[in-house]
Amino acid sequence: MDQMEIKPRPHSLNGTIHVPGDKSISHRAIMLGSLAEGRTTVKRFLTGEDCLTTIKVFQSMGVPIEQNDDEVRIDGKGLHGLSESVTPLNLGNSGTTTRLLLGILAGTPNHYTLFGDPSLSKRPMNRVVDPLREMGALIDGREHGNLLPLSIRGQGLKPIHYRLPVNSAQVKSAILLAGLFANGTTTVMEPVKTRDHTERMLEAFGVKVKREGDLIHISGGQTLTGVDIEVPGDISSAAFFMCAAALKENSEITLKDVGLNPTRTGIVDVLNNMGVSMTINTTRHIGDEPVGDITVKGGPMHGTTLSGDLIPRLIDELPIIALVASRAEGKTIIKDAEELRYKETDRIQAVVDTLKQMGAKVEATKDGMIIEGSTNPLNGGTYSSYHDHRIGMMVAVASVVCEEKIILDNPSCISISYPNFFDHLDALSKPN
Ligand code: S3P
Repeated sequence: MDQMEIKPRPHSLNGTIHVPGDKSISHRAIMLGSLAEGRTTVKRFLTGEDCLTTIKVFQSMGVPIEQNDDEVRIDGKGLHGLSESVTPLNLGNSGTTTRLLLGILAGTPNHYTLFGDPSLSKRPMNRVVDPLREMGALIDGREHGNLLPLSIRGQGLKPIHYRLPVNSAQVKSAILLAGLFANGTTTVMEPVKTRDHTERMLEAFGVKVKREGDLIHISGGQTLTGVDIEVPGDISSAAFFMCAAALKENSEITLKDVGLNPTRTGIVDVLNNMGVSMTINTTRHIGDEPVGDITVKGGPMHGTTLSGDLIPRLIDELPIIALVASRAEGKTIIKDAEELRYKETDRIQAVVDTLKQMGAKVEATKDGMIIEGSTNPLNGGTYSSYHDHRIGMMVAVASVVCEEKIILDNPSCISISYPNFFDHLDALSKPN
């Protein structure tokens, strides 16, 4: 078991950093680049474990992909060019790779076996398996195809009209990708808007995606053409430092070139609601994605309520928001977030147990949590990452408001989404 000692950080946070590339966009760049005709290049690719998993999986299906640090070159095989893999596909810890890949394999007339690590093997797949079966894919696995390992045999698909039963961009994306292989127009209805990177990137590859209110239509048989992609900084990674700065008086940090797609900027709205001083400068568009700089200052904050349509816009930020709320004045209520229970770990339980151990007043509810804020210092001690990168980073950020040292068990999972996280934390919180 790996373990790390994290010393208290008495200094304010100051400085400027570039957070690594966006995880969701990096995955999609490899997938769409593999299905495209011709060459795709990717700059500022996230070299986190999950995105490297996506590269390996597509390489084992015969796609030539060359990766040099954060630059990737893909020689696409076209929509029907993936080969059968001799070995089972190892999806590691990556839910996004698994669910989006199932959408692609549903229309690929080969047989594949997919497996993952213990955390991924507990996560529900029926949310994508059910609609993909409806389109015609043959899928089986544990719990009748709900849990990995899964086997899939793709074939000619029929289009469906599907209303998302969960607010999940992964499910929406899997169906849209399967829709590329279907004989006709597939429609997804999303009652609550989720991140739309798949739709934006499909358009960048030359695919027509029609959006009409809460409906998204895609016609099968369209050709993807390779493009040059630059990945914006990941706002879900930036969130850890936005919150760290907000927590610490006299801090002022700037995060450069962060993706500001409105389906992802719920964290900005929440910190604003809590009274955090911030400036956001949208400086440019990279492809179809807005990008800009975020400056955050530390100071007193107050509680807020998070619910409804806001939740999918900050689903991955809820652990770090909960830490901030534990130090804000008054009560914070998080509801409509039951999805948190199906992430890399049950994030409602993991966050509540961790914050309680730190001395915060917090209670779990079925679909969220209730936090009574206080400005008392948090307790040090030994904490688990639950093998979940975002819980590990939440514990590490607590060191800015903790007067005792923290021991973090299994910190290495942080490399799933933010390989140089501790370098950035050290750079921003060093004595002036
Ligand atoms: C992701 C969507 C979200 C998010 C995950 C990445 C994506 O999951 O939690 O980290 O890239 O589509 P859901 O859409 O399943 O909520």
